[in-house]
Amino acid sequence: MTLKDKKILLGVSGGIAAYKAADLCSLLRKRGAAVRVVMTRNATQFVAPLTFETLTQSPVYLDLFAAQHSYEMEHISWARWGDALIVAPATADVLAKMAAGIADDALTTLYLSFTGPVVVAPAMNTQMLEHPATRKNLITLEERGVRIIPPGVGTLACGEVGAGRLPEPQTIIEELERILAGNNSAAEETARSSANEVISDKNGVTAVRDNALAGRVVVITSGPTHEYLDPVRFLTNPSSGKMGAALARAAASRGAKVHLVTGPVSPSVLPTDCATIHRVTTAEQMLLAVQALADSADAFIFAAAVSDFRVDRPVEKKIKRTGNAVVLPLVENPDISQAIGIRKKPGQVTIGFAAETDDLEANALTKLNRKHLDAIVANDVTNPRIGFESDDNEGTIYLRNGQKRFISRRPKDEVAQAVVDVLVELLQPAHNVPSQEDT
Ligand SMILES: Cc1cc2nc3c(=O)[nH]c(=O)nc-3n(C[C@H](O)[C@H](O)[C@H](O)COP(=O)(O)O)c2cc1C
Repeated sequence: MTLKDKKILLGVSGGIAAYKAADLCSLLRKRGAAVRVVMTRNATQFVAPLTFETLTQSPVYLDLFAAQHSYEMEHISWARWGDALIVAPATADVLAKMAAGIADDALTTLYLSFTGPVVVAPAMNTQMLEHPATRKNLITLEERGVRIIPPGVGTLACGEVGAGRLPEPQTIIEELERILAGNNSAAEETARSSANEVISDKNGVTAVRDNALAGRVVVITSGPTHEYLDPVRFLTNPSSGKMGAALARAAASRGAKVHLVTGPVSPSVLPTDCATIHRVTTAEQMLLAVQALADSADAFIFAAAVSDFRVDRPVEKKIKRTGNAVVLPLVENPDISQAIGIRKKPGQVTIGFAAETDDLEANALTKLNRKHLDAIVANDVTNPRIGFESDDNEGTIYLRNGQKRFISRRPKDEVAQAVVDVLVELLQPAHNVPSQEDT
């Protein structure tokens, strides 16, 4: 979806990244959008309303009670005007007010009056972002359908390295386009909720695609993680996020409400039919995001290629050449599937992935047990025709009850359907008897 002729309400709150909102405003205009800007009082400490007035050629909405030329209430007339509201940067304070329904200024009153899609781009110091209050507020907003563009990682204005940076305006625009495209896919929604559909796969196998996951909430992790060594370098792997996206599409096509928690991947890979997409950077952020969703989930599919290690203390400034070896101690990252598997509630199902280079079956079965999974999909990542960046995959699904199913090489979307078939079976009440290890 392009932004041409869209009417965008741009909310700017009082964080150090407010200056970037001017670039964002200018880019929106260049994309053909009509833009109206609403600022908090504190935002004017960082950037003058005149900047936005010049860029948009219209007044900035700042004061709920300013004398007006017409008798319209601006928060209502602006809310009716806009196709979408994006708050960038969104301060911890403004997120808290939005989550609580406080409407004590122009931006927050407009938010409550607005019925279209709302997108927020939080930007703040890492401690503020990771404070339980802010995390809770973000979860509340997300549950209400507000879309969140996750902050980037890097050197923050306070000098620390961590999560909290406002993404570059170009990235925000791409996300906004993708989100607005997702919100427009009513046709897909209708198609998805229509009852049984018969699908023939390339091998001539015919399967009935039903609504077997209707009412179920499935959390899927996807993509790689980035573990920063310094502000510009990180540990990662070649995961593209295609398998996780295929799983999200497959589960949504069977009626599930899907929450995708993804590491850094190209926006073009991301599926459009998830209830929410949580973009994270590091393994620790991925764990927090999954834990926040855990209580409401019926099932988890852990398809992310999470880095097992991170640097104990990322270096604050770019590491320079000195002619000497650089030694950076690595520590183990949390094991996300194990952390969730150990604490899963009766009835919750967990499926993991094992990317192996040797002893496929033995390693997969060890992981199945150690992580308290109900099934594990194991594949050989030394085979260049499958795995990581490929469009195809091949593997064996090992179930806790001793069964195993080989899936020959085929497109990731079809492999995903086979994995989701297993999930549907495992969610049947007969399968939900805890194993001895789980008790
Ligand atoms: C120099 C400076 C920079 C700040 N940067 C941020 C920031 O990036 N993110 C944030 O949430 N708060 C930041 N704050 C704190 C907010 O300005 C403060 O919470 C304020 O109440 C936010 O008001 P608003 O949400 O109404 O715009 C900063 C404060 C100062 C003095």
